[in-house]
Amino acid sequence: MKLMIMGPPGAGKGTQAERLVKELDITHISTGDMFRAAIKEGTEMGKKAKEYMDQGQLVPDEVVVGMVKDRLSQPDCEKGFLLDGFPRTAAQADALSNTLENMGIKLDGVINIEVPRERLMARLTGRRVCKACGASYHVIFNSPRQEGVCDSCGGELYQRSDDNEETVSNRLDVYEAQTQPLIDYYSERGVLLSINGDQDIDLVLKDVLAALKK
Ligand code: AP5
Ligand code: MG
Ligand code: ZN
Repeated sequence: MKLMIMGPPGAGKGTQAERLVKELDITHISTGDMFRAAIKEGTEMGKKAKEYMDQGQLVPDEVVVGMVKDRLSQPDCEKGFLLDGFPRTAAQADALSNTLENMGIKLDGVINIEVPRERLMARLTGRRVCKACGASYHVIFNSPRQEGVCDSCGGELYQRSDDNEETVSNRLDVYEAQTQPLIDYYSERGVLLSINGDQDIDLVLKDVLAALKK
């Protein structure tokens, strides 16, 4: 399956993606995770991306589009993929549509996780992420069995540098201005699957899997 998952910061894209790629045996492509990996490696691209990310702004389209194009051409995407956090602008959506058309691929669905804005701040400021495998936890809503330690790989949990109140608030504004309009874009193309993300993590997953079966 060739899928995309969208929704505001903190909607649960990464949380659901982790589970979906296992269930469906497809490749997870998260542009945010790719940028964080580049920052960790200290590449030029990573350094540039970090400036935008720390402000809660979007990394320029050309950079993101080039990176995703390369990624989609790798062999592990042939079995199917789940795009998480891309596209986020109309220009990115057009670029993706051209790229997929050139590859002879059609998106099977766009999962849109809906959560009211007032829930997102608490989700993001309480998030903890595994340094080793990238799994997302929450100090209250999804706490690991042992504080500070990843359930699945034993890695150390940390707090993302963009998960502070000021940056989150910018990220939410940027989402509303630039990414939310894509809901109409995909709805008009008949591929949008809207899911209630304001319920238990397992129930969200169940609803996504049911929507994909239809
Ligand atoms: P990115 O890493 O993609 O961040 P984001 O879009 O802001 O989304 P998040 O990862 O914060 O949220 P999520 O929906 O994955 O939530 P999660 O599952 O972790 O991007 C970061 C930055 O990179 C951007 O700001 C931008 O600068 C740059 N960037 C990335 N892609 C780009 C692009 N295409 N173009 C330009 N720039 C780009 O869950 C959040 C928390 O909630 C967790 O603690 C989790 O445990 C908890 N939670 C999840 N589900 C539930 C539930 N059902 N109930 C209660 N709690 C829940
Ligand atoms: Mg994420
Ligand atoms: Zn881990």
